[in-house]
This record gives sequence, structure tokens and C-alpha cells, in this order.
Amino acid sequence: MYSSKIVGLGHHLPEQVITNEYLSTLMDTNDEWIVERTGIQERRWIDPAKDTVGNMAAKAARMALERAKVDVKEVEFIVFATITSDYYFPGSGVIMQRELGLEGIGAMDIKNACSGFIYALSVADQFIKTGMYKTVLVVGAEIQSTALDVTTRGRNTAVIFGDGAGAAVLQRSDKPGILSTHLHADGRYAEELYVKDPGSSRPREERQPEQILDTTGFKVVMNGNQVFKHAVVRFMEAINEALATNQLKKEDINLLVPHQANLRISQYIQEKLNLRDDQVYNNIQRYGNTTAASIPIAMSEAWAEGKMKENDVICLAAFGSGFTWASALIRW
Ligand code: ACO
Repeated sequence: MYSSKIVGLGHHLPEQVITNEYLSTLMDTNDEWIVERTGIQERRWIDPAKDTVGNMAAKAARMALERAKVDVKEVEFIVFATITSDYYFPGSGVIMQRELGLEGIGAMDIKNACSGFIYALSVADQFIKTGMYKTVLVVGAEIQSTALDVTTRGRNTAVIFGDGAGAAVLQRSDKPGILSTHLHADGRYAEELYVKDPGSSRPREERQPEQILDTTGFKVVMNGNQVFKHAVVRFMEAINEALATNQLKKEDINLLVPHQANLRISQYIQEKLNLRDDQVYNNIQRYGNTTAASIPIAMSEAWAEGKMKENDVICLAAFGSGFTWASALIRW
């Protein structure tokens, strides 16, 4: 078996900054409520005339390749995590592949919401460890803003989610890199955080053009309390599983990069693990929750700020719709 290592990270965020103050002009909400419950101060929303999931991802991928000094033509496979692909089908992996001029190589989409990037990393890791590929692009990218109900009716989710893209270049290595990944799901909770449409569960008679005027099924439905309760338990389980698998202790973690679900969830995990502020990377304050993009964006920023040094133990953990949850332990 080979080892796989992240050799480059990149990200891209749309320019448009949406503050809590701006949201309070669209719906009955306020900065104090949002900051107290979620920690979010602002998020980015795309300009539909400029940005797509595929092109934001391509920009993030180019930054990752540049930082890794890897030529785009070396990429042999793409694993693309998103729940907001540009089209209902095909997935956005092929759109990014086209943007990068990589026609012919395989591109796989992963639809595991907030855990999507770790699922994608795990898939790429297996392909490299077994020798099938030497260089794989692993991407998380989302455009949430176009699905949000930005009226008071949708305020419990509209204030949380944001847009963005992050990418990692994973390569075969003779040194340890990705130590282990751990993937879990419990479909009994699928409807606690979901978007119904355009799902095939909707009968044909409800899919007629006049019915489509009822767009409520296209909005995010979230049972916030249930999500919170499960998230804090599953995050901890996934992190402890990763540590136990590698015979490491929580004191060995140099940097935890949690999925940016909600600052309160990150703070809860930090306290349980007894980590200092500088050992947990949070940027939800600036970008909101970008679902599958949140971990690679956070890693890309943490790396640029010098927070991931050679030999450091980096822990990734996520929880989200499905429910799904996952972790990864990395020797940097
Ligand atoms: N602004 C002002 N008031 C609001 C808003 C808003 N944006 N949203 C909801 N409220 C109101 C509600 O209507 C309710 O009013 P009522 O008491 O008159 O009925 C009141 O605030 C409390 O609502 P709750 O839903 O009980 O609020 P809660 O304190 O649970 O906070 C939150 C909601 C922040 C979503 C919380 O449940 C939470 O953090 N859940 C975790 C879910 C999460 O983090 N999801 C992120 C995405 S999923 C993921 O990435 C894992």
C-alpha cells in the first residue's frame, strides 16, 4: 500500500459580502440573534452572472495546484463533494473537469452534505493507497444562496448558509499523510435536514408546470435542535475513533479543522477536547456554513496562515445532513 498526502490547498469565495445587518433588511432577524446562536457575522453570496459551482471550484483547484507546484495535466481523477451542483444532473465534477481542460479523466460527485469533503478525501485516499492513481483533485464547493428562503419564513436557515469552494491536491507519497478516515451515516434522520425537490419522491401529477409554482419543496428544511443534539455527540465519536485508530491522544492534535456548522458546536468540541483557541480553526464568522466547502476553505486559510506545519497532526471532523458524520487524521 502507498501513502497519500495533501500537497496543495486552495479556495475561492465570491466577492459579495452579506452582513447580518443586510439580512435584517430582508427578514425579521438581527445581528445579536445570529451572532449569539451561530457566531456568524457575515457570509458570501455569489453573483449569478459570474459564479457557478464549477467555476468557483476550478479557481480553488488552480490555487491548490499552483501552491503544490503540480501541473494541471498531472491530475488523473476528480472527487467532487457538493449538494448544490450546477445542474440536477450531471454533477459538477464534470463541469470543473471541463473548466480545467482535463477531458477524459474520471470525475465523481459525492452528495454527503457537510461530511462530503471528508467522504471525498477518503475515496481519493483509497484510490491512491491502492495504486490506481498518483494525483487526485478533491473538491468541496457549494452555492447555497440560490436555495435559501430569504424571507422571515426561512430565517432559521437563511442566516446560516453561504457560498464558496475549496480544493486539495492529493498525491502518492512515501511519507505518511492521510493516516485514516472514518465515515458514518444514519438515514433514520434524513428528513431532519433536507431539501425535498427536485427529488423523484414527488409523484408525476405534482410535477406538472403549474405545481412547480409551489417552490416550498426547494427550500432547506432543518430541525435545528435535533441537528445540534446529534452533531455534538457524533463529532466527538468521530474524533475519538480517529485518535484510537492511530493510538493517539487528544493532546496529540495540533490543529482541529471542524466542519464550520455553527460556532457553538465548534466551541463545544473544543471544550470537550480541552484544546486552546489556536488549536481549532474557525472561519464561520466570515463565511457562514458552506457545507462541503467549509473544511477545504478552512484548511486552505489555516495553511496560508502557517497553522499546519510539517509533522503536525491535523484532525478533520464533520457532521451534517443524512445524518452523516466523518473524521480524518492527517500527518502534515
Ligand atoms: N432571527 C431571529 N429569530 C429567529 C431566527 C432568526 N434568524 N431564526 C429563528 N428565530 C426564532 C424562532 O422563530 C423562535 O422564535 P419563537 O420562540 O418565537 O418560536 C426562536 O428564534 C428560537 O428558535 P429556535 O429554532 O428554537 O432557535 P435555537 O435557539 O434552537 O437556534 C439554531 C436555532 C441556531 C439553528 C440552533 O438550533 C442550532 O444551532 N442548531 C444546530 C444546527 C446547525 O448548526 N445547523 C447548521 C447547518 S447543519 C450542519 O452543518 C451540521
